[in-house]
Amino acid sequence: MCGIVGYVGEKSAEQVVVEGLRRLEYRGYDSAGVALVHEGAIVGDKRAGKLANLDKALAETPLPATTTGIGHTRWATHGAPNDVNAHPHRGPESRVAVVHNGIIENFVALRKELEQDGHTMVSETDTEVTAHLLERAVLGGADLTSAMQQLCSRLDGAFTLVAVDAADPARVVAARRNSPLVVGRGEGENFVASDVAAFIEHTRDAVELGQDQVVTITADDITVTDFDGSPSKGLEYHVDWDLSAAEKDGFDWFMRKEIFEQPRAVRDSLLGRHDDNGRLQLDELRMSESELRNVDKIVITACGTAFYAGLVAKYAIEHWTRIPCEVELAHEFRYRDPILTRDTLVVAISQSGETADTLMAIRHAREQRSKVLAICNTNGSTIPRESDAVIYTHAGPEIGVASTKGFMTQLIACYLLGLYLAQVRDTKYAEEIATVVDELQSMPENIQQMLDNADQVYDLARSLEGARSVLFLGRHAGFPVALEGALKLKELAYIHAEGFAAGELKHGPIALIEQDMPVFCIVPPPGRDFLHDKMISGIQEIRARGARTIVVAEEGDDAVEPYADVLIRIPRSSTLLQPLAAVVPLQLFACELATVKGHDVDQPRNLAKSVTVE
Ligand code: M6R
Repeated sequence: MCGIVGYVGEKSAEQVVVEGLRRLEYRGYDSAGVALVHEGAIVGDKRAGKLANLDKALAETPLPATTTGIGHTRWATHGAPNDVNAHPHRGPESRVAVVHNGIIENFVALRKELEQDGHTMVSETDTEVTAHLLERAVLGGADLTSAMQQLCSRLDGAFTLVAVDAADPARVVAARRNSPLVVGRGEGENFVASDVAAFIEHTRDAVELGQDQVVTITADDITVTDFDGSPSKGLEYHVDWDLSAAEKDGFDWFMRKEIFEQPRAVRDSLLGRHDDNGRLQLDELRMSESELRNVDKIVITACGTAFYAGLVAKYAIEHWTRIPCEVELAHEFRYRDPILTRDTLVVAISQSGETADTLMAIRHAREQRSKVLAICNTNGSTIPRESDAVIYTHAGPEIGVASTKGFMTQLIACYLLGLYLAQVRDTKYAEEIATVVDELQSMPENIQQMLDNADQVYDLARSLEGARSVLFLGRHAGFPVALEGALKLKELAYIHAEGFAAGELKHGPIALIEQDMPVFCIVPPPGRDFLHDKMISGIQEIRARGARTIVVAEEGDDAVEPYADVLIRIPRSSTLLQPLAAVVPLQLFACELATVKGHDVDQPRNLAKSVTVE
């Protein structure tokens, strides 16, 4: 939610900041703006709409050349996405400019206080009060760093703030609480941003900031303090991916590129996690075997696509370990007073590691003394930092707002966790675990096979351009796949889509079926507890009522043929691992249908990549 960038160095600040915003636009695209320090004044521009609008404005009315600046791309929370509410916001005398990501929860009281002191606010945002307060401190004699420290001690809520002072062109100051901020360490230049993608083309050396820290960057120095001004330190790290990973590589959309990266992402996520005999080693886990042996319940918490990965995980973890496993939406979790003990393992799944709902859920769990394990794709993000243990997925940066390779690698991490628990607790024989590990190893090939068949799915998507509603049915581990297929379609194609457990259909949803309604049916492999046959009965029932059945079934499953209007073949696999291949055509379908409908696939309306507000 909102992307922010700050730069001090020798290059054109406008160029660095705008390019940084381009790489952060996935975080929000309601409006964008920049503020630069030039000859003792703040200059800048800000425009409603996508970054392209700002680009156009800057091309028509260029800003002067400067080497210090900040920028913002917005996902609106307070106030409509118009020019006035766009960031940066300035103090009344234009001495400081501020960009903000998050929500200042006490802004109403602060605004009232400022208005009583004669300040006039021009926007409806919660952010503008920070610019006024900051400027008041600077005009009172504080330098920008001390002014930021003072400001932060007055704010409630979640925020990353980045500010410049017209009279102090050599520094940019930033602060964070419950919202992402990372520093890029360059040579003769430094950066701050919501995400390393903003400065990856300039440096891969980064500094991760802790909670409630203020950072001051100049061209040659990075200084970190706590909000009270006491010296502190960030954690230095090297980013293990480069600019090419943050570019589209000839694909029309990041999302499509990310779908096609999945075989590589799965391979990377398995790398180094087992020996030649299939024995798992999760060295990074930071939890001892005895702690894992004591776990008597697992609660998986997450949102959106990550939640669906958790639903798949439940089937695998319970089957392999016999540990009861609950899966709960993070925003519901803490409000129902969940039963958590020291022996509960809470698993938080988050691609971004910044989802506020998930973060609040793990804080609640830790307050109850449960151990928290994060499954996360973003090094240095808040959720793994605040967890007791972490399994990093190795998807590489996911930029498309719709999660694809993020989901895929979350599944891999969940399978690894389940198998590792089974190994530690001896609930499966070593050979059984090795067999599943072998099967996981073959998954990149299976996924590639699905990608090689993309044209079939694209043709289908084109033929369904006019569909008003699409249903998705699955059973067992295929049920969350159905939910995920429906979510992808909702968020990208903006058409009604629902996922159902196929067995539930006759309890109500079958009433939705009408002539020619497309229904995706994810068929479990034959042979498991009659699931396959029951699924086929379900398909017959909807077909008899006019549904157009799009059947996703494994190779050699001839029984489905008479009931499939369209048949998409997936490679054979066990029921538990089937989601890895089965989800791919659903991703391709949503991507292509949104494309033919003329939608922006990477930046769907009303959404943002990481939801850093509750
Ligand atoms: O970064 P996270 O994995 O915590 O994000 C969770 C959801 O917001 C995310 O999966 C969302 O549902 C995606 N847009 C789905 O494609």
